[in-house]
Amino acid sequence: MNPTDTLTTRTALDRAWWKEAVVYQIYPKSFNDATGDGIGDLRGIERRVDYLDDLGVDAVWLCPVYESPQADNGYDISDYRSIHDAYGDMDDWRRLLDALHERDIRLIMDLVVNHTSDEHEWFQRSRRRDGTFEDYYIWRDGDGGDPPNNWESMFGGSAWTYDEVRGQWFLHLFDEKQPDLNWRNPDVRNSVYEMIEWWLSQGIDGFRMDVINLISKAAGLPDGAEGEGLTGAEHFINGPNVHKYLREMHDEVLSDESLLTVGETPGVCVDDARQYVGPDGDGLSMVFQFEHVTFDFDEHKWDAGDWSLVELKEIISEWQDGLADDGWNSIYLNNHDQPRMVSRFGDDGVYREASAKLLGTLTHTLHGTPFVYQGEELGMTNASFASPDELRDVEAVNFVEEALEQSDVESYDDVRDAIEYIGRDNARTPMQWSDAPHAGFTDGEPWLDCNTNYEAVNVEHARATKDSVWHYYRDLIDLRHEHDVLVYGSFDLLLPEDPAIFAYTRTLGDERGLVVLNFEAGPVEFTVPDGVSLDGLELAIANTDVPKRPRPSFELGPYEARVYLTS
Ligand code: GLC
Repeated sequence: MNPTDTLTTRTALDRAWWKEAVVYQIYPKSFNDATGDGIGDLRGIERRVDYLDDLGVDAVWLCPVYESPQADNGYDISDYRSIHDAYGDMDDWRRLLDALHERDIRLIMDLVVNHTSDEHEWFQRSRRRDGTFEDYYIWRDGDGGDPPNNWESMFGGSAWTYDEVRGQWFLHLFDEKQPDLNWRNPDVRNSVYEMIEWWLSQGIDGFRMDVINLISKAAGLPDGAEGEGLTGAEHFINGPNVHKYLREMHDEVLSDESLLTVGETPGVCVDDARQYVGPDGDGLSMVFQFEHVTFDFDEHKWDAGDWSLVELKEIISEWQDGLADDGWNSIYLNNHDQPRMVSRFGDDGVYREASAKLLGTLTHTLHGTPFVYQGEELGMTNASFASPDELRDVEAVNFVEEALEQSDVESYDDVRDAIEYIGRDNARTPMQWSDAPHAGFTDGEPWLDCNTNYEAVNVEHARATKDSVWHYYRDLIDLRHEHDVLVYGSFDLLLPEDPAIFAYTRTLGDERGLVVLNFEAGPVEFTVPDGVSLDGLELAIANTDVPKRPRPSFELGPYEARVYLTS
């Protein structure tokens, strides 16, 4: 292809800033504490904007900072238009927004509208059947002394709680302090749209939309089939009106194409996803799908364990192919709900750094927008929780309580492995800034203990060490900014059945890339498959010293990662 053709290909690209961006996710409670109360806050984040700028990220997704009783760390909102006291106030928030924008970093806020807190004024008025609020939530009479149906909550137990004040049951797909909004009520939808508009008018750049595919519940709220997975899920995952509501939301308040909107959508497959993000879809930029972080579950998440690379590759390529032309992928391996990726998909022992770099190479060279979760750029690992008193996450606490009621569980030790493997507190231990007490996160007592490895794994040390995970991430982010092929190029999986190697090519006109990743803790031999040309390929990044030009076959060391690109 000659240079003019390349130009044509380039201009034909359906470019968007959010396709070219790397997004950094901040969990405010655990990021940086400026006030010494042991809880991260907005001023703490503001102090670290230069850190984010140095890393090179283009946008920040801020997990909820709104007023909240914190039953689920802010995913239980009691006032959408004010900031939770421990995090600061709207002035602090505005200063943070300005500081980010001054550095060309965009800000994405978390939109939690499947449910509110039970302390939200809407719920308080709804439970008293106060005027228009009467029908803001999903209220039903029970069946004798039993709940209206058999749906289960994501956090364990029934999805219904009886409210003495109103004398009826209300639905909560999550904690009982998170009642579900009644999206069938147009007043609810309008209130949500007004709130979205208000945040947009503050100058933000988009939303991450919490469990957005759960907002529509099947008419009549029928019982769910019992036996597999969460009872009732088939009646609220991608429910009957979800697309109607999302299109309406798009047309009313989200039609500005420069906004990044990423819908969190548990339980979607590729075909479902197209309806949210495809050309005839609901107008979302992308979704967070869960297939690659749930494929190792058995009955439920607490049974997770063995996984195979062949299956992981199959899932990832299905999404790469499925949304290649009509839609866009988000790429993540961990977030505030998932364990640390290096502990799950890599090796958090001797190969911690190598495998953290390998996984980062994967997320930054796939087709889609990479999301980096705070601390990932250091190779932070899962933590240890010696006793249930050390846990803070409502989901984990409920799980342990329920497990202890079962006859085959004698003590916490019987479930400790599960907690330490998949529990959400793993992701939420404080960000490790330095080897100072509490990892330099706080001068007070942290709300959740730091991971004990902070003396070795921390920002200060990583930035002072040339070949650290941090510097590697910076290089990966730069690389993605410099090479369109890594953003827009098509993806082709190589060696799908290889149990150790994840290899693929990226192609955009005459720009090509070859990515080779060894997921084993030992050496493996890689032979470039027929049909893959090595012409013009040069090493762009690797997590170990390797020659500049690829050979037709070469050995990869443990967790070795290489990216070759046409120069
Ligand atoms: C989403 C959030 C999670 C929260 C849940 C309920 O999955 O990411 O942290 O617990 O929704 O809001």
